Amino acid sequence: MKNIVKALVFILLLSQNTWANDLITNIPNRKTTTLNGKWHYIVDPYENGFYNYRQDAFDASPDLEGNTAAYYNNAKPKNVSERIEYDFDRSETMMVPGDWNSQKEKLFYYEGTVWYKKSFDYKKSADGRVFVYFGGANYRADVYLNGKKLGVHIGGFTPFNFEVTDILKEKDNFLIVKVDNKRYRDAVPTVNTDWWNYGGLTRDVKLVEVANTFIKDYALRLKKGTNNQLLGFIQLDGAKASQKVTVEIPEVNSKYTVKTDANGYAELKFKADKLQLWSPESPKLYKVVLTSDSESLADQIGFRTIETKGMDIMLNGKSIFLRGICSHEENGMRGGRAFSEEDAYMLLSRVKELGANFIRLAHYPHNEYVARLADEMGILLWEEVPVYWTISWENPETYKNAENQLTELITRDKNRASVIIWSMANETPISEPRNKFLRSMIKHARSLDPSRLVSAALEKHSKEGEPNTMVIGDPIVEDVDILGFNQYIGWYGGTPESCDNVKWELNYNKPAIITEFGGGALQGLHGASNEVWTEEYQENLYKHTLDMLKRIPQFRGVTPWILTDFRSPRRHLPVVQDGWNRKGLMSEKGEKKKAYYVLQNLYIDIINNGFKFK
Ligand code: GCU
Repeated sequence: MKNIVKALVFILLLSQNTWANDLITNIPNRKTTTLNGKWHYIVDPYENGFYNYRQDAFDASPDLEGNTAAYYNNAKPKNVSERIEYDFDRSETMMVPGDWNSQKEKLFYYEGTVWYKKSFDYKKSADGRVFVYFGGANYRADVYLNGKKLGVHIGGFTPFNFEVTDILKEKDNFLIVKVDNKRYRDAVPTVNTDWWNYGGLTRDVKLVEVANTFIKDYALRLKKGTNNQLLGFIQLDGAKASQKVTVEIPEVNSKYTVKTDANGYAELKFKADKLQLWSPESPKLYKVVLTSDSESLADQIGFRTIETKGMDIMLNGKSIFLRGICSHEENGMRGGRAFSEEDAYMLLSRVKELGANFIRLAHYPHNEYVARLADEMGILLWEEVPVYWTISWENPETYKNAENQLTELITRDKNRASVIIWSMANETPISEPRNKFLRSMIKHARSLDPSRLVSAALEKHSKEGEPNTMVIGDPIVEDVDILGFNQYIGWYGGTPESCDNVKWELNYNKPAIITEFGGGALQGLHGASNEVWTEEYQENLYKHTLDMLKRIPQFRGVTPWILTDFRSPRRHLPVVQDGWNRKGLMSEKGEKKKAYYVLQNLYIDIINNGFKFK
C-alpha cells in the first residue's frame, strides 16, 4: 500500500513540475550572453538540498520556496547565530559546459545529483524578453532563478529554455540547476547502455534576449522533386502575433512576405530561382533573413532534397552511396563529453580524412555545433534519439519522454541540410508494445518533418533452419524509409571468415544501410589475424565483412562501429579495455589501427570509381 502511495506521489510530483517552454530555434544567430565558465557546485547524493528529510522523503513537498534549507534559495546566514549547512560561494567550481566525471576524479563514477550555481548581473533592454537556454544537461535538470522554480527538463541530449523576463534582476542574479544523472528503468535511455553516463551541464548555457514578439521557430526547405520551390512555416511568440513577416534570400533576389495568423503562425510557400543545391561535394549555404516588425533573424540554410527510389537513396534526384562511420559524442583526447565547435571540427575533419561523407551520430542527439559544421563541411548526418535496447515500451511517461526528445531534436536541426535521416531507435527487441511505440515515434517524426527519411538501427536474425541465411524479419521495416540494421558476424559469433558463407535474404525494395559492424582491437597490439584484440583480427574482420556486404543488393550505405575507442562502463578486460570499448578504427588518442586503412581504401575507391557492387 505504502509503495502505491509513494508511486502516486512521485507521478504527482512529476506532473507538478512545469516542463521546459517551447524550444526557441536558431540560438547561434540570436542576441545571447554566455553563462559558460566556472560554476560553483555541491555534490548531493542524498538530495539533501531538495527534500526536507525530517519527514518521509516522499511526503515532503519540494516547493520549499524561501526555506533556507533548500539549496536553490542560495541562502546566507543573516547573523552569527543562524545555521545554514551549505554555501555555494565557498564550494568548489567546475567548468560549464562539461561533464563532472572527466573534470573531477572523485566524480568519475558518480551518478546522482549535483547542484550548480552561477551568479550574474544582467541589464535587459526596456521591452526585451529574456530566456535562459541550455544546449543540454544529463539527465534531469530542475532549474531555479533567484529562488524561483523555472521548471524541469528530462533527457540528456536536447536543448531547452525557460523565460526569465519577470524574474531577472539587474544585479546579483543566481541561477541554480539541480542536475541528476541517475539511471531509471522507465527513463530514455533506460538503465543499461554501452556508453559512459556523463553527468552535468554538458553543453552551452546562455541568456537569450528577444523582442517582445519574436520569431520563435521556422522551417524552410526545398520541395521534393523541384529545384526552386520552397516550403516551410514561421511561428511568432508574443502579443503582436498577427503581423507581416518577410523571408529573404538576398543572394538569389528572392523575397516573400506573408501575414501570420492570430496564433502567430504562417505557412511559407514561394519560389527562389537559380539556387545551387547543397551536397557533400558542394555544401552551398544561403543567408536567409526573416524579418518581422520588431526583429530580423538570419540563418545559413542549404537547399537539397533527399528521397528513396526503390533501393536507391536519392540526393537532389541522384543516387548516392553513404560512405559512413559511427561516432559517440566524446573527445577521447581530453576525456569526457564533446561539446565545443572545436570538438565538432575534430570529429568532422577525421570523417573527411577517412573518405567518408556520412556519420551516424550514436545513439543520442549530439550538440548543435556538429550539425551546423556538417552543413558547412558537406557531411551527411544520421541523427538518433536514445531509444536504446530494452525501453519500458508500455509506460506512457516513457513514450512521452522519448517523443519529447524527438520533438526537441527535430525542432533544433530541421533547417540543417546535412541531416538526412531521423533514427527512432537502436537494437530494440521485437514485441507488440515496442512496435506500437516505434510506429508512434515514426508518425510523430513525419508529422513534424515530412522532408527527411526515417529509419532505426534494427537487428538481424538467422533464418529458421538456415544458420547462414540472414534476415531482418522485423515488422517495423514496413514503416521506415531506410532499412538500417546492425550485424556483428565475426565478433559476436563466428569468425571473420564466417562472413564468406553468409547469404542475406532481404526481400525489401528499399535501400539498406548497415548501421553497425566491427570488432575490438587494442591499438598497437599485433599478432595473427585470428588472434582476438589484435589489429590484424580487426583488419581481417573488416575485409571479410565489407566483401559480404557488397553482395547485398540493397547495400547503399554503411556506418561501421566506430570511429574512435570510447568509454564504456561495461568493458573490463585489463590492459585491453580498462573501461574502453575498443571497436574504434582509431584509439581514443586518434592513433589509427590497420582496419582504418581497409575502410579508407574502400571509400577512396568509391569516390574514384563510384559504387558498382550490384
Ligand atoms: C551494439 C550497440 C552499441 C555497442 C556495440 C558494441 O550493437 O548498438 O551501442 O557499443 O554494439 O557492442 O560495441
